[in-house]
Amino acid sequence: MPGLEKLTRGRLAYGGDYNPEQWPEEVWAEDVTLMREAGVTVVTVGVFAWSWLEPRPGAREFGWLDRVLDLLHEGGIAVNLATPTATPPPWMAHRHPETVQVAQDGRRMATGSRNHFCPSSPTYRRYATSIVRDLADRYADHPALRMWHVNNEYCETCHCDISAQHFRRWLRTRYADDLDALNAAWTTAFWSQRYGDWDEIGTPRDTTYLRNPTQQLDFRRFSSDALLECFALERDLLRRRTPDVPITTNFPGLATWVPVDYRRFAAEEDVVSLDWYPDPADDDAHVSSALAFDLMRSLAGGRPWALMEQAAAAINWRARNPTKPRGLTRVQSLQAVAHGADMVCFFQWRASTGGAEKFHSGMLPHSGPDSRVFTEIRQLGTDLARLSEVVGRTEPARVACVLSWDSWWAASQEAHPANDLDVLDQLHRYYEPLIQSGLTVDVVPPDADLTRYSLLVVPNLYLVSDAEAHRIVECARSGGHLVLGFFSGIVDEFDRVRAGGYPAPFLDLLGLRVEEFCPQPEGVRLRCVSSELGDFSSDLWVDRTRPTTAEPVAVVRGGELDGVPVILRNRCGAGLAWYVGTRPDQQTLRRLLGAACARAGVAPLADPPPGVEVVRRAGLLFLLNHREHPAEIALAGSWRDVLSHGRFDDRIPLPGYGALVLRPIRDVPAASGEHSLEVVDQVPHAFEETAPGGAD
Ligand code: GAL
Repeated sequence: MPGLEKLTRGRLAYGGDYNPEQWPEEVWAEDVTLMREAGVTVVTVGVFAWSWLEPRPGAREFGWLDRVLDLLHEGGIAVNLATPTATPPPWMAHRHPETVQVAQDGRRMATGSRNHFCPSSPTYRRYATSIVRDLADRYADHPALRMWHVNNEYCETCHCDISAQHFRRWLRTRYADDLDALNAAWTTAFWSQRYGDWDEIGTPRDTTYLRNPTQQLDFRRFSSDALLECFALERDLLRRRTPDVPITTNFPGLATWVPVDYRRFAAEEDVVSLDWYPDPADDDAHVSSALAFDLMRSLAGGRPWALMEQAAAAINWRARNPTKPRGLTRVQSLQAVAHGADMVCFFQWRASTGGAEKFHSGMLPHSGPDSRVFTEIRQLGTDLARLSEVVGRTEPARVACVLSWDSWWAASQEAHPANDLDVLDQLHRYYEPLIQSGLTVDVVPPDADLTRYSLLVVPNLYLVSDAEAHRIVECARSGGHLVLGFFSGIVDEFDRVRAGGYPAPFLDLLGLRVEEFCPQPEGVRLRCVSSELGDFSSDLWVDRTRPTTAEPVAVVRGGELDGVPVILRNRCGAGLAWYVGTRPDQQTLRRLLGAACARAGVAPLADPPPGVEVVRRAGLLFLLNHREHPAEIALAGSWRDVLSHGRFDDRIPLPGYGALVLRPIRDVPAASGEHSLEVVDQVPHAFEETAPGGAD
């Protein structure tokens, strides 16, 4: 299977989306000159160019694209060639209105924006495969072609009649043509929803009151699969024609709205890639970034991934869109590299002067090359060119956080005990202390090989299948350590409660039984006491827990829940399981995870000040200051910054938004008696994590 190495060829790939169809041809030559000046090695071409390639049904206009690819190739710039299928041309909607998406309320979308196709439409699929086949035939042998970029940010869901038919076909496969099985899975005995014929089933459109949760969950799964079918159709065509060219599709971030199951997509593509737009106004954006980046590396099976899009300065789609302060783009890009990216790209090369994104920054801003933004883009090109030694290498992790798409989708539904329980926020809270201490953390699904990890952190796993639960239990029994957050193990894969005490699949593992959920009113903080972690406060949620074999680590003090244990620990086989039945303040969660790491034999790499990250990759230490204030990091030894060649000893100053990539060096007496510096290629042993310890 070809990977990113086809594109990197020993050097970090650098560039952005290039939309030459927005510019007169005279500008193209200048683009290539400036790309070279900026150190750009690759551009993504043609993402939204369908109406330029096929102005009329069946027509082909490839001449302009030929010239663009030739020009780029002459300039030594590789091409990540996009299929234009995210946005069908206006003629398609005009001639075939059924190719346009229908929203949950039954309204058909209008055209005039983008991403408006119905993934189930045979007409859309026919036109899409036809243009993709012709693109592949035309450019298969073009020397600039180094990667295929399929579609853009798959995210469409559709409630039209064609989609409903497709949904029913998907359901018949899922439930092996057994309508009784579907009725049981969807609990249709409730509210007289029992289906007597497959044709009675629709997509979960707007209803008078609460909708069936399993119908909604299955629709999410189906919608993701329908898009995956679209991806696979294109991929198969491209792969047949160019088996050596890697294929990717760019994932649309990691926010509350994640429409497709990345794990299933990642398994079908050659390269995992992400679009990422951290909010410059968010002081903790770097934690979300690290989390998304670690997820990408994990989805890629530990191989390098691609940062396909980010902004060089401001974006245009939040309520306020501040520019990025000087240095922030650099530190964010290096952060992606530190977490395993081998490709750092932007949306887009040249800022548009018209259209919906004319106030979205580009690498080349409206003000031209003589600008702060372009100067930083050039600098970044130089920095990335100095980091070739990391290419193709990533850091193995001994700690993993678990994230399940099915569970996330199910937990995000309405009519739950606390509808403001946010799975991503919960993950973020548990993940933050881990990266703050410099650990490499994988983010894996519950059916991954979990026994590889010394510590498994499961912030929330509301929905768990029997097989997944079994893997988690086995991980602990075989000596792994586990931290499990509340409202986990509650329902099966059909979103049906597992009765008999929560969390049913983990009762023995945890040595406790949760009798009742006690979500707390907004603003209420509970007092909890713990001799081990110190007293603390918690909010949002408390489980009424009864330990069987577990040892209480913290209990509620005062009020109706006085004495209820909220943090517990239980030995399980050779491993140790922690249960967190509330939402402790962040300081306490840090202490708890510190204790869990220590017991699992995972030593922290560093203890930098807040906002500073220390990340290890390929024998180098990335020191990243994500905030505007200068910081100082204590790191015993002598170090050389690979980017500036500066030398540092023991205490390392980092300016606001500063970044260093350090290689350890040691002083070696030269024959002349003078001292010279010998470079060692590994981070010294002191920075290695310790071996796994016992359960004590
Ligand atoms: C992405 C998209 C790009 C551009 C960008 C703006 O979602 O793939 O084409 O619209 O957002 O931030």
